Amino acid sequence: MIRVTVPVGDRAYEVVVGRGVRKLLPDVLPAGVRRVAIVTQDRIPVDVDAGVPSEAFLLGDGEQAKTLASVAALCSHFARMGLTRTDAVVAVGGGMVTDVGGFAAAVYHRGIAVVHVPTTLLGMVDAAVGGKTGVNLPEGKNLVGAFWQPAAVLCDTEVLETLPEREWRSGYGEMAKYHFLTGDDLSAMPLDDRVARCVAIKAAVVAGDEREEPGRSPSQGGRALLNYGHTLAHALEIAGSHDLRHGEAVGIGLVFAAELAQTLERIGPERVAQHREVVAGYGLDTELPPGLDGRELLELMGRDKKALGGLTFVLDGARGMELVDGIDPRVVGATLARLGAP
Ligand SMILES: NC(=O)c1ccc[n+]([C@@H]2O[C@H](COP(=O)([O-])OP(=O)(O)OC[C@H]3O[C@@H](n4cnc5c(N)ncnc54)[C@H](O)[C@@H]3O)[C@@H](O)[C@H]2O)c1
Ligand SMILES: [Zn+2]
Repeated sequence: MIRVTVPVGDRAYEVVVGRGVRKLLPDVLPAGVRRVAIVTQDRIPVDVDAGVPSEAFLLGDGEQAKTLASVAALCSHFARMGLTRTDAVVAVGGGMVTDVGGFAAAVYHRGIAVVHVPTTLLGMVDAAVGGKTGVNLPEGKNLVGAFWQPAAVLCDTEVLETLPEREWRSGYGEMAKYHFLTGDDLSAMPLDDRVARCVAIKAAVVAGDEREEPGRSPSQGGRALLNYGHTLAHALEIAGSHDLRHGEAVGIGLVFAAELAQTLERIGPERVAQHREVVAGYGLDTELPPGLDGRELLELMGRDKKALGGLTFVLDGARGMELVDGIDPRVVGATLARLGAP
């Protein structure tokens, strides 16, 4: 069992990683909790015992259920079961469940404690850690939300045994990202250690920039660093009908960010090769899916919420990772064309 602290001032909390750690739930609930609302999904075969009376509420599956209506329904359930400010929510699921359950906890009675039990790899290394919660609007993803740090996070790697193949791949894409954020060699680590190391890297970034303050650069420890590989990934998720899971798109986005950094003479070919090796090592595609329209991708990347004049990428270089904005779209377009999307 590995414990990682997320050092966010008086809201600091522990992330526990290991097989069977969901059984620690009664120990990590804040003192005085008398009742617990468990938020989960139908198809998640994970039982938790809070050690106090609890009721479970099921969310629908997928992004289309990640709505304010789901939050309203949850809060009504909480009210009907008589949940008070000194009780707690426990979110048991992937990023969808921890985002929605966390946001409901952030707003119910102006904020009650939440413990996350992430059940996907992506949830463990990314979504459940760092305090971002929220839901989608018809106008876009994650447009409504709150920063609400959990009281604890239990990453029980035993529950990954039932995780579908595609969801493993999606988690691996985010995991691949962490290989490049620090100098660590994650490749040789067993799964539990690797999950814990990814959590520790995210925790360090989050601690330096808990609320993603505008105007900070990743070289100053900014949270935007966590978007490495994501500029193209977000465009790939929208463009065409390629049905890429988020992490699968991130894998391709990481390779693209390296290729772009090379075009801009920030890194050499060996470092690009290293990106390809790490991403391929997780069984993920490193090439752009066939038949993509480079102009469409450029336009989508221009609309990315982090773009303020020119295109914005987190890029590798001699000084490490940096948030680079104002990148000439023609340079990005030429790199896309070189990789098969003219
Ligand atoms: N808050 C953040 O910082 C943050 C970071 C990254 C992603 N996210 C959000 O996370 C969401 C994606 O999360 P995700 O990739 O975990 O997807 P998800 O939560 O939709 O889960 C994927 C699928 O796996 C199923 N599942 C989950 N655990 C399982 C298990 N142990 N066994 C069998 N099936 C299981 C789920 O029911 C679902 O069908 C997105 O909404 C994204 O916006 C948030
Ligand atoms: Zn991501």
